[in-house]
Amino acid sequence: MTAIIERVLTPTPTRLQGSVALVTGGASGIGAATARRLAAEGARVVVADRDDDGARRLAADIGGDAVAFDVTDPAGVRVAIGHADEAFGPIDVLVNNAGGDRPSFFLDTDESTWEAVLALNLTGVIACTHAVLGSMVGRRRGTIVNVASEAGRVGMVGGAVYAAAKAGVIGFTKAIAREGAHHGVRCNAVAPGPIDTPMLDGLARDPLGARLRQGMIDATVLGRCGQPDDVAAAIAYLASADASFVTGHTLAVSGGLSMW
Ligand code: NAI
Repeated sequence: MTAIIERVLTPTPTRLQGSVALVTGGASGIGAATARRLAAEGARVVVADRDDDGARRLAADIGGDAVAFDVTDPAGVRVAIGHADEAFGPIDVLVNNAGGDRPSFFLDTDESTWEAVLALNLTGVIACTHAVLGSMVGRRRGTIVNVASEAGRVGMVGGAVYAAAKAGVIGFTKAIAREGAHHGVRCNAVAPGPIDTPMLDGLARDPLGARLRQGMIDATVLGRCGQPDDVAAAIAYLASADASFVTGHTLAVSGGLSMW
């Protein structure tokens, strides 16, 4: 048992050797921790972010590559992922991590907010997956890990459309797992609870956000925030051959918030 736990928590330098991994939203928070972790496990990592400078800085630090694109622009996603594919090699591991929200009660939101939240948290995942899946299927090789949220399972006050988008990501993950299964492609998700990142810090800057942050922490059994590295370790596991019999699964990394 101890050996298994150590295996999951400690980066294995060769577990992802020979793989090219692209992490969206890779310049900050969970994405940055994931990029570092996948690089530490031997992958050639492409840090993808709309924050070009941040992506370049991290890529330089981990000996990876950077590509700038906005996941809410499907045409731009196609072009940028096509270039990344040519420049760095076909993508074997896609981590759909870019996402986020600004808290607001549903009745205070309008159509433009709904569209923006869905574009970032759901359509972005769909667009990036569409851009890499053909090559993965053609090569019968690939794993996709989507960053959902416990909000997609248990809901969230002040984040109705975000919760809807993340529930959509969980459903999308299962559908791609089914379509990909006979083509050598696995697709899984993680559902983080409260994780100490710039996004969560940003939440705490307004009164509703601060209440939400504390509410999420109180809802965990462990009574605290997780760290980006906790989520990165789960993503690295799901991306690796250690999870070769795991697909369509959503792994909670949430201190026991939902226990699903
Ligand atoms: P973060 O704000 O620290 O990092 C998000 C990164 O995504 C940033 O580098 C940002 O530039 C990039 N990004 C934002 N919009 C983009 C776009 N349109 N195109 C390309 N890149 C874009 O956020 P954090 O906390 O690391 O969140 C990562 C993921 O984890 C998100 O999907 C979020 O919904 C999810 N999550 C986070 C939780 C938390 O408590 N921090 C809890 C549950 C889920």
